[in-house]
Amino acid sequence: MTAESCRAFYFRRLHSLLGIVPIGAFFCEHVLTNSLAFFEGPEKFDKTALFLQELPFIRFLEIFLIGIPILLHAVLGLMVWWNSRCNLHEYGYLRNWLHFLQRWTGIGALVFILVHVWGMRISWTFHSGMEHVDFAYVSQVFNRSLLIPFYVAGVACVSFHFANGLWNFLITWGIAVSERSQRDLLALCGIVGIVIFCGFMFSLAAFVAA
Ligand code: HEM
Ligand code: HEM
Repeated sequence: MTAESCRAFYFRRLHSLLGIVPIGAFFCEHVLTNSLAFFEGPEKFDKTALFLQELPFIRFLEIFLIGIPILLHAVLGLMVWWNSRCNLHEYGYLRNWLHFLQRWTGIGALVFILVHVWGMRISWTFHSGMEHVDFAYVSQVFNRSLLIPFYVAGVACVSFHFANGLWNFLITWGIAVSERSQRDLLALCGIVGIVIFCGFMFSLAAFVAA
């Protein structure tokens, strides 16, 4: 292995790992917290949001466990995008389609996350006296009805990207080796993706209805 291909190998592994920990782990926590708005009501959502914001070293955690890993994964993802090509026009198998969608949903995820984090996490810190977001604030954000289809599409992109990414991860890291286990895990990851998408959609419904 040349030094360059060795470096490329470790960057690919780092990119892959970041997609699961910490980004994927945060993504799962995020759907659980938000879906409380639907399943348990506004008070429980506010209590949990407050609890999370009062965690020790929360700003440090937000930057080093969420912000920087997402940024790093995105930059490495864009480099992979740029340096490899999609062979869908040569082979139209399911795996080629999934790889094609993995690449494009990465771009969708990037656009969604930039707009979303600006609106939900950054913009209000400049001009309001709020300490943290609450149910009322999030509902008011969704007053802009154009944002709703944008959220449905964005969440669909990230949910697919995570579920298919999880399946790729299990194969890349040698966890799913046999043909049979890869087939079964594809179905399981598909279910995970659908459940996460539905969780976000329930939360969206709760905020919009309010
Ligand atoms: C911020 C924008 C993002 C971009 C630009 C991006 C880009 C990419 C790309 C291009 C790939 C495919 C790499 C390849 O062909 O081997 C990928 C894989 C992956 N992404 Fe992302 N991604 C983003 C966000 C996310 C998010 C939010 C998550 C988790 C919720 C995530 C989880 C994963 C996982 C688990 C993989 C599979 C890694 C593997 O093959 O082992 N990504 N990403
Ligand atoms: C219906 C869908 C969603 C809703 C209602 C929602 C809601 C929120 C809220 C209320 C916050 C602010 C949290 C706080 O400051 O305490 C937030 C932050 C954030 N969201 Fe979402 N979210 C949704 C989907 C997503 C998706 C699909 C992703 C992709 C990974 C995502 C990534 C983030 C990130 C990275 C932050 C900043 C985290 C932080 O710094 O604490 N969100 N979201």
